[in-house]
Amino acid sequence: MPPRRIKVLIADDMVELCSNIRRMLGSQDSIQVIGEARDGEEALKMARELSPHIVLMDINMPKLDGLKVTEALGKELPNIQVIIMSIQSEQEYFRRAMKAGAKDFLTKPFSSSDLVDAIQNTFTKWIKDRPELQQEEARADILAFFATKGGVGRTTLATNLAISLARRGKRTLLIDASLQFGDVAITLNQKASRNLYNIVEKEEDITAGKIDANLTHHPSGLDLLLAPIEPAFADAIKPHHIKTVLDTLAPIYQFIIVDTAPHLGAIELQILDQTDLVLLVGTLEISSLKNTKLCLKTLNDIKFDMAKVKLVINKDIPNVGIGRKDIEEGLAIPIFSVVPMDAETAQMALNHGEPFVVKFPNTPLAKALDLMTTLIVGEEPAAADPVPSGPLWKLRKMIFGS
Ligand SMILES: Nc1ncnc2c1ncn2[C@@H]1O[C@H](COP(=O)(O)OP(=O)(O)O)[C@@H](O)[C@H]1O
Ligand SMILES: [Mg+2]
Repeated sequence: MPPRRIKVLIADDMVELCSNIRRMLGSQDSIQVIGEARDGEEALKMARELSPHIVLMDINMPKLDGLKVTEALGKELPNIQVIIMSIQSEQEYFRRAMKAGAKDFLTKPFSSSDLVDAIQNTFTKWIKDRPELQQEEARADILAFFATKGGVGRTTLATNLAISLARRGKRTLLIDASLQFGDVAITLNQKASRNLYNIVEKEEDITAGKIDANLTHHPSGLDLLLAPIEPAFADAIKPHHIKTVLDTLAPIYQFIIVDTAPHLGAIELQILDQTDLVLLVGTLEISSLKNTKLCLKTLNDIKFDMAKVKLVINKDIPNVGIGRKDIEEGLAIPIFSVVPMDAETAQMALNHGEPFVVKFPNTPLAKALDLMTTLIVGEEPAAADPVPSGPLWKLRKMIFGS
């Protein structure tokens, strides 16, 4: 199985123990601590938000005890595996922990090898029964958000989709290939000091280690490969660099999402070429549709595989004189997803540096992204989801052939 990082949440009210655990796991490349909760309620909240694979759970915590949290997680998020940590080593505690749904039990104090073994064994047992997850990991599905017009929402959609995939436990990388004026770092409130430029600046081979050293890890579990901090550095990045980066990272991730610049040049063609699904983003403005049409024509002219191209209508508002059917007929490609216009939610999330799928999960905007995520991972939407006409989820088969 290709390497995969196990995401761990620590739930313990003792700060010192949490730092000890972080230290013990610090040298483990395959394990990443994604958060610390100080009480039971916070543990539940963080588990919902961060989708860890494993929670290291203390029993005696304020507000809600660890056994109750374990029971609640078992019902609500059965994919999250709990390892109980307790000072009490008696059989009775062990029995109660297992009854609550815990997968393992560590008696405090424990050694770092006991801890690493418990995490790895629990994760391996869980993934063993899920051949679909192991298979999916063989090579990432690469998706690019593309448009030849700026401001249509590529960065907004790319960041929210990527976070949403990561929160569902998918090993996901977001690449900001809008090389001159990339916005992913600011959108997700991250420093861009490590970025694509650092990978290519020296004339030496690009290695997996070098790429890894320049990734940024978002607390959601999403990995980011950011754009250079200044437009002057963008020219140093060549199409063959992009190729090497994608070829190197594809076996490591399940999903790679690429945000792009509003341009159709050598870099973009390289990205589109290596992409499994091109999500062409358009809005219901005549100028955007004109550009979308021109873009489709150009791709057609260069014999691009048009089966990979799907349309996303963003900032949808009813009654603006252009309907779905007009678009599908006019552009002769199917609409993959329709995302509603909601400037307030989009901009508040942007200004807070938090994606709206996390900050405002109950808005129609976040729900549209959630549905897009469901389509992309190939799950059937829940009956309550507002599925646009036709069984769109079947597109997955068409698109990725799995
Ligand atoms: N569905 C939406 N409803 C309202 N505003 C949106 C929506 N999607 C994006 N926006 C806003 O549109 C602007 C441009 O979005 P952005 O993602 O930066 O576009 P691009 O990356 O294509 O240039 C931003 O202010 C963003 O908040
Ligand atoms: Mg952008």
